[in-house]
Amino acid sequence: MALAAAGCRPAKRLTIAVIPKGRALLYWKSVHAGAARAAAEAGVEILWSATERETDYAGQIQIVEAMVNQRVDAIGLAPLDKVALVGPVERAAQRGVPVIVMDSPVDTEVYVSRVATDNYGAGRLAADRVGTMLNARGKVAMVMCQPGGASTMAREQGFAETIHEKYPGIDIVDQRYGMADFAKSFAVAENMIAAHPGLDAIFASNEAGSVGAAQALKSRAGKVKLVGFDCSPKLLEGLKSGMIDALLVQHPYKIGYEAVLSAVKKLRGESVAKINDLAARLVTRENLDDPEVQAQINSDLTP
Ligand code: BDR
Repeated sequence: MALAAAGCRPAKRLTIAVIPKGRALLYWKSVHAGAARAAAEAGVEILWSATERETDYAGQIQIVEAMVNQRVDAIGLAPLDKVALVGPVERAAQRGVPVIVMDSPVDTEVYVSRVATDNYGAGRLAADRVGTMLNARGKVAMVMCQPGGASTMAREQGFAETIHEKYPGIDIVDQRYGMADFAKSFAVAENMIAAHPGLDAIFASNEAGSVGAAQALKSRAGKVKLVGFDCSPKLLEGLKSGMIDALLVQHPYKIGYEAVLSAVKKLRGESVAKINDLAARLVTRENLDDPEVQAQINSDLTP
């Protein structure tokens, strides 16, 4: 009664908008679970809002602007395009809404913190795996993700530069975009395999690209090696069957969790590291049953 009489109201719960690149892939479901867990532990609310397709950066811009207009306390954002999202991120900061960049960089420095995989380093790991499997000689192709997506571009760059620097006997004979879409990734993989009969390996830089490439290689099991990215039941099946030779696996649950935690720390006046890079792990049939690998690929999906 006294509280009410004094006109005191319970403090408003902080609200953090969490805006991923999309919603279809298991990767984002893991990010969502981690974000929700951190929100529950911190006693804050999250608003999860995603575009249908990972190519719809205009739609993602609308979501960011809408969240700023409804005065959320902070935003966790995985920018679909490292340039197109600069304006919305800078406008959010100008209006006092701190932004935590998650998963994929953006070409501005006004964000509070970035929590993501060391994607260039992951690309280097993939190149070393291919170089080793091919004994430093052969023809490889890349199923890339999409132009403007800084995270996957860094993987592709890390892969290509490492192949050129360390494996001069390996040629990257083709590289095409699967646009984070299963069907498109399957089509471009099929076309590259048909265009290059002597192909020895493929590198795919995200979940959709890896699934599409594995499907395209179904009838060529063993002849063409495949190093993919991310993790899902289908990709693990491919790894166990030998369709896929290795996967670069990230920490999506931790990325979602750390993004919300960093937003809460910022809102509560605590210091937050500007860069929070998480290493990707190379998973193969040989190490698949290691306890820490199992823990990472079975990260808890329940919020
Ligand atoms: C993929 O896009 C990247 O930004 C994520 O890390 C994931 O690998 C999902 O399309």
